Amino acid sequence: MTGQPMVKAEGVHKSYGAAHILRGIDLEVRSGEVFCLVGPSGSGKSTFLRCINHLERIDGGRLSVDGRLVGYRQQGERLYELKDSEVAAQRRDIGMVFQRFNLFPHMTALANVMEAPVQVKGETKAVARERAQRLLDRVGLSDRMHNYPSQLSGGQQQRVAIARALAMEPKLMLFDEPTSALDPELVGDVLDVMRDLAESGMTMIVVTHEMGFAREVGDSLVFMDGGVVVESGHPRDVLGNPQHDRTKAFLSKVL
Ligand SMILES: Nc1ncnc2c1ncn2[C@@H]1O[C@H](COP(=O)(O)OP(=O)(O)OP(=O)(O)O)[C@@H](O)[C@H]1O
Ligand SMILES: [Mg+2]
Repeated sequence: MTGQPMVKAEGVHKSYGAAHILRGIDLEVRSGEVFCLVGPSGSGKSTFLRCINHLERIDGGRLSVDGRLVGYRQQGERLYELKDSEVAAQRRDIGMVFQRFNLFPHMTALANVMEAPVQVKGETKAVARERAQRLLDRVGLSDRMHNYPSQLSGGQQQRVAIARALAMEPKLMLFDEPTSALDPELVGDVLDVMRDLAESGMTMIVVTHEMGFAREVGDSLVFMDGGVVVESGHPRDVLGNPQHDRTKAFLSKVL
Protein backbone atom coordinates (compact mmCIF):
# COMPACT_ATOMS: atom_id res chain seq x y z
CA MET A 1 0.00 0.00 0.00
CA THR A 2 1.50 3.31 -0.96
CA GLY A 3 0.66 6.59 0.72
CA GLN A 4 -1.21 8.09 -2.17
CA PRO A 5 -4.68 6.76 -2.92
CA MET A 6 -5.26 5.35 -6.41
CA VAL A 7 -8.67 7.01 -6.54
CA LYS A 8 -9.80 9.94 -4.46
CA ALA A 9 -13.29 11.42 -4.68
CA GLU A 10 -14.14 14.56 -2.75
CA GLY A 11 -17.69 15.84 -2.90
CA VAL A 12 -18.30 14.52 -6.41
CA HIS A 13 -21.57 15.65 -7.99
CA LYS A 14 -23.14 14.63 -11.27
CA SER A 15 -26.51 15.52 -12.77
CA TYR A 16 -28.26 14.48 -15.95
CA GLY A 17 -30.39 17.50 -16.74
CA ALA A 18 -32.56 18.08 -13.68
CA ALA A 19 -31.77 14.66 -12.21
CA HIS A 20 -29.14 15.03 -9.50
CA ILE A 21 -27.57 11.57 -9.48
CA LEU A 22 -24.30 11.80 -7.54
CA ARG A 23 -24.79 14.04 -4.52
CA GLY A 24 -21.38 14.41 -3.02
CA ILE A 25 -19.39 11.19 -3.16
CA ASP A 26 -16.41 11.02 -0.83
CA LEU A 27 -14.19 7.98 -0.89
CA GLU A 28 -10.62 6.77 -1.25
CA VAL A 29 -9.37 3.65 -2.97
CA ARG A 30 -5.87 2.68 -1.88
CA SER A 31 -3.34 1.29 -4.27
CA GLY A 32 -3.57 -2.50 -4.48
CA GLU A 33 -6.92 -2.84 -2.83
CA VAL A 34 -10.14 -4.50 -3.96
CA PHE A 35 -12.84 -1.94 -3.41
CA CYS A 36 -16.41 -3.20 -3.66
CA LEU A 37 -19.27 -0.89 -4.46
CA VAL A 38 -22.80 -2.07 -3.72
CA GLY A 39 -26.19 -0.42 -3.66
CA PRO A 40 -29.69 -0.53 -5.10
CA SER A 41 -30.47 -0.06 -8.77
CA GLY A 42 -30.30 3.59 -9.76
CA SER A 43 -28.09 4.63 -6.83
CA GLY A 44 -25.38 5.89 -9.20
CA LYS A 45 -22.78 3.09 -9.13
CA SER A 46 -22.28 2.89 -12.89
CA THR A 47 -22.38 6.67 -13.16
CA PHE A 48 -19.58 6.94 -10.63
CA LEU A 49 -17.45 4.37 -12.49
CA ARG A 50 -18.03 6.30 -15.70
CA CYS A 51 -16.85 9.49 -14.00
CA ILE A 52 -13.63 7.78 -12.88
CA ASN A 53 -13.00 6.82 -16.49
CA HIS A 54 -14.07 10.26 -17.67
CA LEU A 55 -16.80 8.83 -19.84
CA GLU A 56 -18.89 11.39 -17.93
CA ARG A 57 -17.71 14.71 -16.62
CA ILE A 58 -18.44 15.68 -13.07
CA ASP A 59 -20.34 18.87 -12.20
CA GLY A 60 -18.77 19.51 -8.82
CA GLY A 61 -16.12 18.30 -6.42
CA ARG A 62 -12.78 16.74 -7.22
CA LEU A 63 -11.90 13.35 -8.58
CA SER A 64 -8.36 12.10 -9.04
CA VAL A 65 -6.71 8.89 -10.19
CA ASP A 66 -3.15 8.16 -9.10
CA GLY A 67 -2.72 11.72 -7.90
CA ARG A 68 -3.94 13.36 -11.11
CA LEU A 69 -7.28 15.08 -11.56
CA VAL A 70 -9.54 13.28 -14.01
CA GLY A 71 -10.08 15.49 -17.04
CA TYR A 72 -8.46 18.62 -15.63
CA ARG A 73 -5.13 20.20 -14.96
CA GLN A 74 -4.73 22.47 -11.99
CA GLN A 75 -2.64 25.60 -12.24
CA GLY A 76 -2.65 27.62 -9.08
CA GLU A 77 -6.27 27.87 -8.02
CA ARG A 78 -7.71 27.32 -11.49
CA LEU A 79 -8.73 24.16 -13.30
CA TYR A 80 -8.22 23.76 -17.03
CA GLU A 81 -9.95 21.07 -19.04
CA LEU A 82 -7.62 18.59 -20.67
CA LYS A 83 -7.55 18.15 -24.42
CA ASP A 84 -9.23 15.06 -25.86
CA SER A 85 -5.85 13.47 -26.51
CA GLU A 86 -4.85 14.01 -22.89
CA VAL A 87 -8.14 12.53 -21.66
CA ALA A 88 -7.58 9.52 -23.91
CA ALA A 89 -4.10 9.09 -22.44
CA GLN A 90 -5.52 9.13 -18.90
CA ARG A 91 -8.19 6.61 -19.84
CA ARG A 92 -5.61 4.23 -21.25
CA ASP A 93 -4.39 3.49 -17.73
CA ILE A 94 -7.83 2.35 -16.61
CA GLY A 95 -9.35 -0.96 -17.68
CA MET A 96 -13.10 -1.34 -17.67
CA VAL A 97 -15.16 -4.52 -17.79
CA PHE A 98 -18.91 -4.18 -18.22
CA GLN A 99 -21.85 -6.46 -17.62
CA ARG A 100 -22.00 -7.15 -21.35
CA PHE A 101 -18.77 -8.20 -22.89
CA ASN A 102 -18.66 -5.86 -25.93
CA LEU A 103 -16.13 -7.98 -27.78
CA PHE A 104 -15.56 -7.31 -31.47
CA PRO A 105 -17.72 -10.06 -33.02
CA HIS A 106 -15.68 -10.35 -36.22
CA MET A 107 -12.40 -11.00 -34.40
CA THR A 108 -11.08 -14.07 -32.64
CA ALA A 109 -10.39 -13.99 -28.90
CA LEU A 110 -6.70 -13.50 -29.66
CA ALA A 111 -7.35 -10.63 -32.07
CA ASN A 112 -9.69 -8.97 -29.58
CA VAL A 113 -6.96 -8.96 -26.95
CA MET A 114 -4.27 -7.78 -29.41
CA GLU A 115 -6.34 -4.96 -30.87
CA ALA A 116 -5.85 -2.02 -28.50
CA PRO A 117 -2.12 -2.41 -27.87
CA VAL A 118 -1.53 -2.46 -31.64
CA GLN A 119 -4.04 0.26 -32.60
CA VAL A 120 -3.73 2.58 -29.61
CA LYS A 121 -0.19 2.05 -28.38
CA GLY A 122 1.39 1.23 -31.73
CA GLU A 123 2.87 -2.03 -30.50
CA THR A 124 4.14 -4.57 -32.99
CA LYS A 125 1.84 -7.51 -33.62
CA ALA A 126 4.49 -9.92 -32.40
CA VAL A 127 4.73 -8.23 -29.01
CA ALA A 128 0.95 -7.84 -28.70
CA ARG A 129 0.38 -11.47 -29.69
CA GLU A 130 2.84 -12.79 -27.15
CA ARG A 131 1.15 -10.84 -24.36
CA ALA A 132 -2.36 -11.73 -25.56
CA GLN A 133 -1.47 -15.43 -25.53
CA ARG A 134 -0.09 -15.12 -22.01
CA LEU A 135 -3.21 -13.26 -20.80
CA LEU A 136 -5.63 -15.70 -22.43
CA ASP A 137 -3.70 -18.52 -20.79
CA ARG A 138 -3.98 -16.71 -17.47
CA VAL A 139 -7.78 -16.48 -17.75
CA GLY A 140 -7.94 -20.18 -18.65
CA LEU A 141 -8.60 -19.85 -22.37
CA SER A 142 -5.38 -21.03 -24.00
CA ASP A 143 -7.41 -23.58 -26.00
CA ARG A 144 -9.93 -20.97 -27.16
CA MET A 145 -7.71 -18.27 -28.63
CA HIS A 146 -8.83 -18.80 -32.19
CA ASN A 147 -12.55 -18.90 -31.44
CA TYR A 148 -14.87 -16.05 -32.30
CA PRO A 149 -17.08 -14.57 -29.56
CA SER A 150 -20.15 -16.36 -30.94
CA GLN A 151 -18.34 -19.66 -30.35
CA LEU A 152 -17.71 -18.88 -26.69
CA SER A 153 -19.94 -19.06 -23.62
CA GLY A 154 -20.83 -15.86 -21.79
CA GLY A 155 -18.33 -16.66 -19.06
CA GLN A 156 -15.60 -17.32 -21.60
CA GLN A 157 -16.42 -14.07 -23.40
CA GLN A 158 -16.21 -12.18 -20.13
CA ARG A 159 -12.80 -13.69 -19.43
CA VAL A 160 -11.66 -12.56 -22.89
CA ALA A 161 -12.97 -9.09 -22.02
CA ILE A 162 -10.88 -9.10 -18.83
CA ALA A 163 -7.79 -10.22 -20.78
CA ARG A 164 -8.48 -7.48 -23.32
CA ALA A 165 -8.57 -4.82 -20.60
CA LEU A 166 -5.38 -6.19 -19.02
CA ALA A 167 -3.56 -6.06 -22.36
CA MET A 168 -3.28 -2.29 -21.96
CA GLU A 169 -1.45 -2.85 -18.67
CA PRO A 170 -3.80 -0.65 -16.63
CA LYS A 171 -3.04 0.55 -13.14
CA LEU A 172 -6.70 0.42 -12.18
CA MET A 173 -9.48 -1.96 -13.20
CA LEU A 174 -13.16 -1.06 -13.00
CA PHE A 175 -15.72 -3.87 -13.03
CA ASP A 176 -19.38 -3.03 -13.46
CA GLU A 177 -21.42 -6.10 -12.48
CA PRO A 178 -19.16 -8.39 -14.50
CA THR A 179 -21.08 -11.56 -13.65
CA SER A 180 -24.69 -10.43 -13.51
CA ALA A 181 -25.48 -11.30 -17.13
CA LEU A 182 -24.06 -14.80 -16.79
CA ASP A 183 -25.75 -18.12 -16.18
CA PRO A 184 -25.06 -19.13 -12.57
CA GLU A 185 -22.76 -22.00 -13.48
CA LEU A 186 -20.46 -19.62 -15.40
CA VAL A 187 -20.05 -17.06 -12.63
CA GLY A 188 -17.43 -18.97 -10.66
CA ASP A 189 -14.80 -19.04 -13.42
CA VAL A 190 -15.03 -15.27 -13.87
CA LEU A 191 -14.80 -14.64 -10.13
CA ASP A 192 -11.76 -16.95 -10.00
CA VAL A 193 -10.03 -14.80 -12.61
CA MET A 194 -10.87 -11.66 -10.62
CA ARG A 195 -9.60 -13.27 -7.42
CA ASP A 196 -6.33 -14.15 -9.16
CA LEU A 197 -6.04 -10.58 -10.40
CA ALA A 198 -6.63 -9.25 -6.90
CA GLU A 199 -3.90 -11.53 -5.54
CA SER A 200 -1.49 -10.14 -8.12
CA GLY A 201 -1.93 -6.71 -6.50
CA MET A 202 -4.16 -5.01 -9.06
CA THR A 203 -6.22 -2.09 -7.75
CA MET A 204 -9.84 -2.97 -8.51
CA ILE A 205 -13.18 -1.27 -8.05
CA VAL A 206 -15.92 -3.85 -8.33
CA VAL A 207 -19.62 -3.10 -8.55
CA THR A 208 -21.21 -6.40 -7.70
CA HIS A 209 -24.10 -8.25 -6.15
CA GLU A 210 -21.78 -11.17 -5.35
CA MET A 211 -21.56 -10.63 -1.61
CA GLY A 212 -19.57 -13.84 -1.14
CA PHE A 213 -16.88 -12.46 -3.42
CA ALA A 214 -16.98 -9.09 -1.65
CA ARG A 215 -16.56 -10.73 1.73
CA GLU A 216 -13.74 -13.05 0.67
CA VAL A 217 -11.75 -10.87 -1.70
CA GLY A 218 -12.73 -7.30 -0.86
CA ASP A 219 -10.56 -5.04 1.27
CA SER A 220 -13.20 -2.30 1.51
CA LEU A 221 -16.87 -2.09 0.79
CA VAL A 222 -19.02 0.96 0.22
CA PHE A 223 -22.80 0.93 0.32
CA MET A 224 -24.21 3.67 -1.88
CA ASP A 225 -27.81 4.86 -2.00
CA GLY A 226 -29.35 7.93 -3.58
CA GLY A 227 -26.01 9.18 -4.89
CA VAL A 228 -24.17 9.25 -1.57
CA VAL A 229 -22.01 6.86 0.41
CA VAL A 230 -24.22 5.64 3.24
CA GLU A 231 -21.76 3.31 4.92
CA SER A 232 -18.27 1.97 4.34
CA GLY A 233 -15.72 -0.24 5.97
CA HIS A 234 -14.27 -3.72 5.81
CA PRO A 235 -16.67 -5.99 3.88
CA ARG A 236 -16.95 -8.36 6.83
CA ASP A 237 -18.08 -5.50 9.09
CA VAL A 238 -20.45 -3.78 6.68
CA LEU A 239 -22.04 -7.05 5.55
CA GLY A 240 -22.01 -8.70 8.95
CA ASN A 241 -22.96 -5.74 11.09
CA PRO A 242 -24.53 -2.96 9.03
CA GLN A 243 -25.17 0.25 10.98
CA HIS A 244 -27.75 2.04 8.83
CA ASP A 245 -31.32 1.05 8.17
CA ARG A 246 -30.89 1.55 4.43
CA THR A 247 -27.90 -0.80 4.40
CA LYS A 248 -29.82 -3.37 6.44
CA ALA A 249 -32.82 -3.17 4.13
CA PHE A 250 -30.64 -3.60 1.04
CA LEU A 251 -28.64 -6.49 2.46
CA SER A 252 -31.75 -8.31 3.61
CA LYS A 253 -32.74 -8.48 -0.06
CA VAL A 254 -29.42 -9.59 -1.53
CA LEU A 255 -27.82 -11.78 1.15
N1 LIG B 1 -26.99 9.10 -19.71
C1 LIG B 1 -27.96 9.30 -18.80
N2 LIG B 1 -28.91 10.24 -18.97
C2 LIG B 1 -29.87 10.45 -18.07
N3 LIG B 1 -30.00 9.73 -16.92
C3 LIG B 1 -29.10 8.78 -16.69
C4 LIG B 1 -28.03 8.50 -17.60
N4 LIG B 1 -27.29 7.49 -17.09
C5 LIG B 1 -27.86 7.15 -15.92
N5 LIG B 1 -28.93 7.93 -15.67
C6 LIG B 1 -29.78 7.86 -14.46
O1 LIG B 1 -28.95 7.98 -13.33
C7 LIG B 1 -29.40 7.13 -12.27
C8 LIG B 1 -28.27 6.29 -11.78
O2 LIG B 1 -27.92 5.36 -12.79
P1 LIG B 1 -26.75 4.32 -12.66
O3 LIG B 1 -26.70 3.57 -13.93
O4 LIG B 1 -25.51 5.01 -12.23
O5 LIG B 1 -27.27 3.41 -11.46
P2 LIG B 1 -26.68 2.05 -10.90
O6 LIG B 1 -26.47 2.23 -9.44
O7 LIG B 1 -25.52 1.61 -11.71
O8 LIG B 1 -27.91 1.04 -11.09
P3 LIG B 1 -27.96 -0.51 -11.55
O9 LIG B 1 -27.70 -1.31 -10.30
O10 LIG B 1 -29.36 -0.70 -12.03
O11 LIG B 1 -26.93 -0.72 -12.60
C9 LIG B 1 -30.60 6.37 -12.81
O12 LIG B 1 -31.77 6.99 -12.34
C10 LIG B 1 -30.46 6.51 -14.30
O13 LIG B 1 -31.73 6.51 -14.91
MG1 LIG C 1 -25.14 0.03 -13.00
